Amino acid sequence: MAKRLNVLATGGAGFIGSHVVVELIAAGHGVVILDNFENAAPDVPARLGRITGVDIPTIRADVRDKEMVRRALGRHGIDAVIHLAGKKAVGEAVAQPLLYYDANLGGGVALLEAMQESGVGKLLFSSSATVYGPGAAPMDEDHPVAPSNPYGRTKLMLEEIITDAVAAGAIESAISLRYFNPAGAHPSGLIGEDPRGTPNNLFPFIAQTAAGRHAKVRVFGDDYDTPDGTGVRDYIHVVDLARGHVAALSHLMAAGMPQVHERFNLGTGRGYSVKEALTTFSRACGFQVPYEIVARRAGDVATCVACPDRAARVLGWRAEMTLDQMCADHLAFQREVA
Ligand code: WQD
Repeated sequence: MAKRLNVLATGGAGFIGSHVVVELIAAGHGVVILDNFENAAPDVPARLGRITGVDIPTIRADVRDKEMVRRALGRHGIDAVIHLAGKKAVGEAVAQPLLYYDANLGGGVALLEAMQESGVGKLLFSSSATVYGPGAAPMDEDHPVAPSNPYGRTKLMLEEIITDAVAAGAIESAISLRYFNPAGAHPSGLIGEDPRGTPNNLFPFIAQTAAGRHAKVRVFGDDYDTPDGTGVRDYIHVVDLARGHVAALSHLMAAGMPQVHERFNLGTGRGYSVKEALTTFSRACGFQVPYEIVARRAGDVATCVACPDRAARVLGWRAEMTLDQMCADHLAFQREVA
């Protein structure tokens, strides 16, 4: 087993963060959560305690509060930071870009300053495939970047800031993980995607429709250049995604890791259309989830699928779980908690 590390997980009570915390503890590491709980239920740390059997130190704070972050880094002997805190709704970012620049960039810079001042030099950053420009074929890490919305721009800009911080020696080294489309939930049903208000993303909307909270799923367009005309995405089980963080952390902490900022795509390499997701989810719940075809959503692309070979080659990690498992686990969470 790799050396036991103490990890600060900003946003560790959120959808991705909570699953990362579970896998870090399963790998034998210590975790401290720092979260403002703006997009996380207050009882997530308790649920994480039930899953892991560990009482996880949790600091209710915003990552822009440098004093709180510095205190967390110092008091818990942190070896590395996994930065997951941030706002992530594309539509909200278009409507309120300054809110996103403040939260995502302001938060990222404050964290980097606190790390430099505390002498904590290792960072894993939660980035996103929305940094990429359009592409019909699977995208590798060298695919041209061209974010089409303020949310994607905050992710790319913070990646660039991290590169500059490493080059200047403000922090030692970093990895940015570019997520494709996280879906599913922990098999315990205790943690999952439980967005406040009406979900923007497809999976939580399908799950809530299956639970009777919406009349039908609106399929945003069926005239794309894809096999069945609906949008194709690379859905990755959130537990696979979390395990990708553990593999990336081991690589980041490996002896002799040069002072660089590396990027890795976290996806499966397999795309599924909206209609395929609906069919698979309907199979999991035993009835046809109702839907209707409506107009395209502004800003959507036809296809976005990862080429995940670099993560396999360098991190020794590949996604393993199927779309059926994502649907079954998401449904179990929807029934259990949401
Ligand atoms: C998936 C497909 C829609 C909702 C976004 C962010 C990305 C990441 C994941 C944070 C598309 C279609 C959706 C609905 C639909 N988030 N759809 N009806 O847009 O690929 O990515 O979420 O990191 O950064 O950009 O995900 O789930 O919104 O859409 O038909 O009610 O489902 O058109 O083809 P997206 P999504």
